[in-house]
Amino acid sequence: MLSSIFGQTVRGMRDFLPEDARRLRFIERIARETAELYGYDEVITPTIEYYNLLAAKIGEENRKRMYVFEDLGGRKVALRPEFTASIARLVATKLRSAPKPLRLFSVGSLYRYDEPQFGRYREFWQANFELFGSALPEADAEIISLMDVFLKKIGLDGYSFKIGHVGVLRGVFSDEGIDEDKQNSIMQRLDKKEWEEAIKLLKESGSSRKCLNTLKGLLKTSGKDPPCIIKKMREIVKEYPGAIEAVENLNEIIDLLRSGGVETEILIEAGFARGLEYYTGAIFEVYVPEMDIALGGGGRYDKLVELFGGGKIPGVGVAMGMDRLSLALKKHGSTIHISAPTKLLVVPVERSLLGEAFKTASMLRESGFCVEIETMGRSVSRALSDADRRGIAFTVIIGPREIKEGKVVLRHMAERKQITVDLSELPEKISQVCQC
Ligand code: HAM
Repeated sequence: MLSSIFGQTVRGMRDFLPEDARRLRFIERIARETAELYGYDEVITPTIEYYNLLAAKIGEENRKRMYVFEDLGGRKVALRPEFTASIARLVATKLRSAPKPLRLFSVGSLYRYDEPQFGRYREFWQANFELFGSALPEADAEIISLMDVFLKKIGLDGYSFKIGHVGVLRGVFSDEGIDEDKQNSIMQRLDKKEWEEAIKLLKESGSSRKCLNTLKGLLKTSGKDPPCIIKKMREIVKEYPGAIEAVENLNEIIDLLRSGGVETEILIEAGFARGLEYYTGAIFEVYVPEMDIALGGGGRYDKLVELFGGGKIPGVGVAMGMDRLSLALKKHGSTIHISAPTKLLVVPVERSLLGEAFKTASMLRESGFCVEIETMGRSVSRALSDADRRGIAFTVIIGPREIKEGKVVLRHMAERKQITVDLSELPEKISQVCQC
């Protein structure tokens, strides 16, 4: 009975074997480099937070999927399902008086009790970027352009952005006097692409025929020619001032992206909604054609920090789903960036030479090489065939005669050639061969 439990991970949880771990860490490294390039400082927040904080604006669907429990002190806590609430908490409290704009980066694992399937796990990873203090379109454009640069740097191509604006739909609903709770329920249905349900809820809220037609019109409006879609959106919402403002804001963001050199394909969806409830402005996701799940998503949220007791501090951010990016890189067959470093193996001919093998390995590591030592007590020939099997590039053989003369044997595994080299020249010799 016990062995069947010990033999598997909990449903939705995964082990990362070396190749997958390497790919995930590669994505993390590039995310951190991108954060530095754009001036985002890393912050590390706890995996466990108060339930009320995490649940406040996460949205009905995400709320149901939180890992919630009472700790031994009787506190109702949860595993974080995202970073944004924790970062907004920091900005409302410890970083309240930090000069703005405030650019913050986080990376780590998150937990949602989603139904496990391709690209959907219960423990997953995000690289998260948030920009606080500016309500201007240049802040939204910065986040989208950062996302673009990051995706290029990890070697992904053929991706596109889906962009919408929560303010368009909410602008229409607010002008119709629909309260926030009802708006949230409608937005949740739209996020799940349950258009008919959304229209039904809108009808039940007593909204006008004009409002229903406006929603239907917006739901039909999408396309990859932003100026044309913006024009259509202006026309559809022309009688709703709040929504018009949102369309103009969306237009400014896209103009800025284009004039700033972002050439990535943009699909505008006028009826686009996201499950998280805190969004107040532009929202966006990134897709590749081979996968119908978002590789990242984000948007503007101007009221969250205030809700957590901070001032009126607007925010905009994005979270890149590292697991899905890893899958996308794998699908593209991209191994360039994640290939393992050149490895060396040091093999003593006999056990009495182990000390010399350790010293040689240390010297090579100090010179920057990745070095293993034969630790299985195998003969040289068996160690060499194992090195071959594992893709080791060079072996350094420590023999009694050579070491007495301060020399070792350097073997190029792929070419099956070996030379005797002075120990003092060994690092240089390996570097020379590596460059050939
Ligand atoms: P989100 O859309 O919920 O947004 O998640 C962002 C990304 O995390 C998704 O696009 C996806 O790649 C990945 N992701 C989400 N759930 C899973 C899962 N169960 N398994 C694997 N990957 C998953 C947020 O989390 C917001 N906090 C983004 C944001 C930042 N908005 C403003 N600032």
